[in-house]
Amino acid sequence: MPLLISALPGNEALAEGLARHLDAEVVPLELRSFPDGELYIRHLGEIDGRDLAIVCTLDRPNEKLIGAYLASASARELGTRRIGLIAPYLSYMRQDKRFKPGEAISSRHVANLLSSAFDWVVTVDPHLHRYKNLREIYTVPTQTANAAPLLSKWIGENVRQPVIIGPDSESQQWVAAVAVASGAPYTVMEKTRRGDRDVEITFRDIGSITGRTPVLVDDIISTGRTMAQAARALKKHGSSATTCLAIHGVFAGDAYELLAAEGATIVTCNTIQHPSNRIDLTDRIAEAVAAVREGVESNARR
Ligand code: R5P
Repeated sequence: MPLLISALPGNEALAEGLARHLDAEVVPLELRSFPDGELYIRHLGEIDGRDLAIVCTLDRPNEKLIGAYLASASARELGTRRIGLIAPYLSYMRQDKRFKPGEAISSRHVANLLSSAFDWVVTVDPHLHRYKNLREIYTVPTQTANAAPLLSKWIGENVRQPVIIGPDSESQQWVAAVAVASGAPYTVMEKTRRGDRDVEITFRDIGSITGRTPVLVDDIISTGRTMAQAARALKKHGSSATTCLAIHGVFAGDAYELLAAEGATIVTCNTIQHPSNRIDLTDRIAEAVAAVREGVESNARR
């Protein structure tokens, strides 16, 4: 029987695209807030005995997490067979260590919550810094779609003589993958973060941009401070127009305006809906969904 797909608000276009790729059926989900902010959820279709994937990207996550949880818990109560979560942007991944006594390692607790609610999780390039993979914190099968090949394709089609630049050492994993697939050189800058909106970027490898077009690549643009400072550092060394390419455009607060004020061309993937989305990852996400479901079924047959 075909997979059923339901979208939390804002994820409808991706859910439709995934349904086309996966020969799945979309089941509408009614979700609204009561006047006091509590959520009302209703599955508008026959889901008993079926497999269901819930699409809910997790930027601005606090309300979305409870929405995804309620959608899953209610589907299970209504007799759904297996329930997966498709969260193209998986938030709460950056707090992966207790930096100060008493701090919550939120990545673990959110992973526990989602592992308790879903049978599998699919995402796109999660922010893995101190964790090697999602298996370290998720107890259910997970599958990651990688954006690097499509970032490279975009660069190949839009930038002449590129050099790929990461704004900090954490970005090296994405920058290296994109550079290898593009056949372009790469380098990374040095970042010191003093606060949520206070970062300093140092760029020493100035020779790397000579005669080339710099393309800044990072996994996430959140406050935009990292990319803005990186673009500023490039300008200081004579680079005019900078392209800022990110997988997940969270754009908290004034992030987009701040980056645009640097004269940057801003390009993101459709893991979070935004006017800067230029790179469509629907087919990569669909492949990841097919792979994780196959794994779950073959484990169940053993
Ligand atoms: C963290 O290391 C990530 O890779 C990004 O560099 C970071 O999340 C960007 O944050 P912001 O846009 O707030 O500077």
